[in-house]
Amino acid sequence: MGDMDDGTAPQPVNLHELEAMARERLTESANAYVAGGSGDEHSLGWNVSAWADIRLAPRFLVDVSAIDTRCRLLGHDLAAPLILAPAAAHRLYHPKGELETVRGADAAETLHVQSTLATVAVDEVGATATGPWWFQVYVQRDRGFTEDLVRRAEDAGASALVLTIDLPVLGARDTDRRSSLGLPPGVEYANLRGLPLVPDPLPPERRVYNPHLDPSVTWADLDWLTSLARVPVLVKGVLRPDDARRCLDHDVAAVLVSNHGARNLDTVPATAQALPGVVAAVDGRLPVLVDGGIRRGTDIAKAIMLGATAVLIGRPYVWGLSVYGADGVKLVVDMLRTELELAMGLLGAPTLADLTPDLLWPPDLTQSTT
Ligand code: FNR
Ligand code: LAC
Repeated sequence: MGDMDDGTAPQPVNLHELEAMARERLTESANAYVAGGSGDEHSLGWNVSAWADIRLAPRFLVDVSAIDTRCRLLGHDLAAPLILAPAAAHRLYHPKGELETVRGADAAETLHVQSTLATVAVDEVGATATGPWWFQVYVQRDRGFTEDLVRRAEDAGASALVLTIDLPVLGARDTDRRSSLGLPPGVEYANLRGLPLVPDPLPPERRVYNPHLDPSVTWADLDWLTSLARVPVLVKGVLRPDDARRCLDHDVAAVLVSNHGARNLDTVPATAQALPGVVAAVDGRLPVLVDGGIRRGTDIAKAIMLGATAVLIGRPYVWGLSVYGADGVKLVVDMLRTELELAMGLLGAPTLADLTPDLLWPPDLTQSTT
């Protein structure tokens, strides 16, 4: 598998080992940017621990000889209910950046949500992709610029847009303040080339606003985006059930429960805690996706049991990209897919449809059919 066979370090058997390998490869500032959460990082820890805190109630003596993780999401067939979340600046982690990521996503039969803040232009990534991919939108103060960028993404092959709503201002991340992360020489936010940046007169330590994020975005801008889009529009960053319900009144194709990898507002709940309320509010009228702290196949199984159609991962595929490039991105997806298959086998749930809430502990025996 490409440079995975260089015979130096043994291949990792789980994401924790891969993270450690990535930490050794990345620069200090890149490590801080990837790993960092906001504030005192309470939500960062809760994102991972909340999935582990959910107990399982396996059902035995079920034929699990044909485990199937395949799923269909907004018209695309995926090998597993697992897609790659948007993450900025992939050339911080690999010299080929998003071109390498999308190769890995294609090889893993999944899809990558490319960030507005990518370090390779959307046109180039689209020309490289052989499978489906989506484009994540940060609405710019210059709405004409955003409309042009959306057109470029659609023309390049983006089959959906993902509007990120939870970052009107940058997260309060001490790691970023400490490392004062800027892009290294020769690396740029390629999609924002030519965008006039509004200079902030305040000193860095007093800044709240970010030149690449428009803090004035409202539900009317969601309607503006859905009215101009030629592809479905998903909303990323929903935690509140009332926001999820409100998405039903706008032309939204799916709701993505996310707290941005706990990178924005500290002490928001773990996404595992927010998911049930959003699922109940949407009441089956839209697909609900979730990201945040997904590190094991059992986490994916639990998300499905709680009503998610699929999950996204962020940091894990960045670790894979950092260590092994495209092969590493595929390794992460394959690792989690195998763990999901093991979990499904041990749960007595051969298909995703069999991952029902009664497999969560304590089992809801009022629903038991046996
Ligand atoms: C992100 N995330 C993110 N989200 C988004 O909508 N646009 C973006 O540009 C970025 N950039 C970004 C960079 C890095 C380094 C990370 C780690 C994350 C958030 C991302 O899409 C996702 O919500 C979280 O990463 C999911 O949590 P885990 O899997 O990282 O725990
Ligand atoms: C982040 C922003 C760029 O999480 O989405 O770093």
